[in-house]
Order: sequence, then C-alpha cells, then structure tokens
Amino acid sequence: MNPIDLVKAAAEAAQKAYAPYSKFKVGAALLCADGTVFTGCNVENASYGLTNCAERTAVFSAVAAGNLEFEAIAIVAGGDAMPYPCGACRQVLAEFCDPHLTVHIASAGNPGVYETIRLGELLPHSFKL
Ligand code: THU
Repeated sequence: MNPIDLVKAAAEAAQKAYAPYSKFKVGAALLCADGTVFTGCNVENASYGLTNCAERTAVFSAVAAGNLEFEAIAIVAGGDAMPYPCGACRQVLAEFCDPHLTVHIASAGNPGVYETIRLGELLPHSFKL
C-alpha cells in the first residue's frame, strides 16, 4: 500500500479521537501483512491514566481480529507536532513487529509531508521476556 494512503487513513482515524481532556487528537493506521488496514484513535478517560493511545487501539484491534503480522503503521496527530509514538506504544509494537517495521508520522495540518522511520530506531533493545 502507498504510504500516502496509509497516512490518509490515520488522518481519518484521528477525526474519531475521543480527546476531551487534552484536545490532542491522534489517529493510527496499521497495515497488516495480508493487506488489511486497522485504524485506531486515542480514547481518553476522566481518570487520565486509563487513556489508550491511537497506536495501541489499532494494534489491539488487529490482534483481536487475528492479525499478528504488521508491515507498517502511520500516525497522524493534530497541530503541527510530529507525533512520534510514546514509549509504551513502541514497546507494544515491538511485541509483534521486527525492528524493520516502517513507521510513518505526519501532522494533521500537513499530512502530505510525512517522515518515515523504523521501529528499531525508535526503540532499540526493546524488552523481551
Ligand atoms: N497519545 C497517543 O494517542 N499516542 C501517543 O503515542 C502519545 C500520546 C495520546 C494520548 C492522549 O490522549 C493524548 O495523546 C495526549 O497525551
């Protein structure tokens, strides 16, 4: 799949974000080895620590549907910030993906300009049991 289409899917997912507290809307689109795309958004909670990030929403949806092989993830967030995934989401991705997983990131304000980085660059030496 074209990275631009994956970034667009993430931007659409960000519109569904439930982010009344931070107002920071994040969307993720996860491309599986079989070509299926699972999307996710951040889902906040009045008890802030229960918030789930967009990336983990997408990963958990894919796993719940029986998809465990991922090729790429696109992440888009509101504003001008480039939404590098948080540490928790990097570790969750590392559970299912090798370090070559492609990560595309873009801001919602300028989704045509995306940066591509590998999971292994974002999280070298991930925790393994
Ligand atoms: N957030 C994500 O969705 N993904 C990340 O990788 C980092 C942060 C969300 C969580 C919260 O709803 C908002 O961004 C502000 O932290």
